[in-house]
Amino acid sequence: MRFETDAIHAGQEPDPTTGAVAVPIYATSTFVQDAPGRHRGYEYSRTDNPTRHALEVALAALEGVTPDMGGGAVATASGMAATALIGYLLRPGDHVLLPNDAYGGTFRFFARVLAEQGVTWSAVDMTDRRLLETAIRPETKLVWVETPTNPLLRLVDIGHAASAAHARGARLVVDNTFATPYLQHPLTAGADIVLHSTTKYLGGHSDTIGGALVTDQPDLDERFRFLLNAAGPVPGPFDAWLVLRGIKTLAVRMERHCANAARVAEFLSGHPAVREVIYPGLPAHPQHELAVRQMAGFGGMVSFRSMGGAPGAGRMASSTRLFFLAESLGGVESLVEVPAVMTHASAQGTALEVPDDLVRLSVGLEHIDDLLEDLDQALSSS
Ligand SMILES: Cc1ncc(COP(=O)(O)O)c(C=O)c1O
Repeated sequence: MRFETDAIHAGQEPDPTTGAVAVPIYATSTFVQDAPGRHRGYEYSRTDNPTRHALEVALAALEGVTPDMGGGAVATASGMAATALIGYLLRPGDHVLLPNDAYGGTFRFFARVLAEQGVTWSAVDMTDRRLLETAIRPETKLVWVETPTNPLLRLVDIGHAASAAHARGARLVVDNTFATPYLQHPLTAGADIVLHSTTKYLGGHSDTIGGALVTDQPDLDERFRFLLNAAGPVPGPFDAWLVLRGIKTLAVRMERHCANAARVAEFLSGHPAVREVIYPGLPAHPQHELAVRQMAGFGGMVSFRSMGGAPGAGRMASSTRLFFLAESLGGVESLVEVPAVMTHASAQGTALEVPDDLVRLSVGLEHIDDLLEDLDQALSSS
């Protein structure tokens, strides 16, 4: 099936008992057995739950993993829980290569949690192919790609990163949170594992926290399923259901996110209070050509640098009325934030530091004219 159809139907057949067209929220911890050890497909909700299972089938389909290929998806309690499951694949002495502007939480997990277990890491500018190739060491087990990155919206060539990683015996993980499977298919491009914070565009309504890992390799899928049950960071059935409901409209939401973001980027590009606009859809973006080749649209995130420096960025972000001043992204409502003092505060003073005059916008689904008017009045105070 095509993407829009899978989003609504994959894993979401009418309920066999009642015919309900929406997958029910199976709020149960355990399932009755017909005889000791003989259950009807489910035994305990940490191991598996029908609502979560429906979400996992849908997520796998959206990332292009069909049942006959093997592989699949596991849904986790958060994006970071998905990252932590990947961490269990690593042993002391293993090395992980991160992008030099990875999401701060990813960086924190490797630098402050796994480092204590003897896993080493380094960060490199992955937009530079040669730097990426030379940074992979004999002991590198994972190359971690985010594309577009958060919040500088840099792109990494997934196909190239996959070849470079595989040539040295490492696996490629792609955090596909910003692009979503509607705009980008990392597994098709050669990645081994796709990670999502479903908290963002997949859930899409800023009302739940969740994550997922998707792979087209049956052995990895089996390992993740084992680890999810063994370590236990599962989403509850209501959270799984919220994400499942969200992804039904992912395609139409992403179309509008992209259209609104393109208009915002164009508006900001001509504004005297703005020093630089960062959006992969702008021809001036250093990797615009890669964006055209790798993505089916340019996404809903726009970053820009304020002419008024850090104080200007702060004033602007405090003056919007429709854009809520808040962390996170990917919901129907527009959000504004200053990464240096909000989402990326922990990265200041490190290789992952972001400019202090940077403002990040998650462009939502409100009417574009209202959004542009709001930005205009907020910029006039910066
Ligand atoms: C790109 C990216 N990956 C992963 C995460 C972590 O996801 P969660 O907050 O659902 O744990 C985030 C959260 O902001 C993110 O932006």
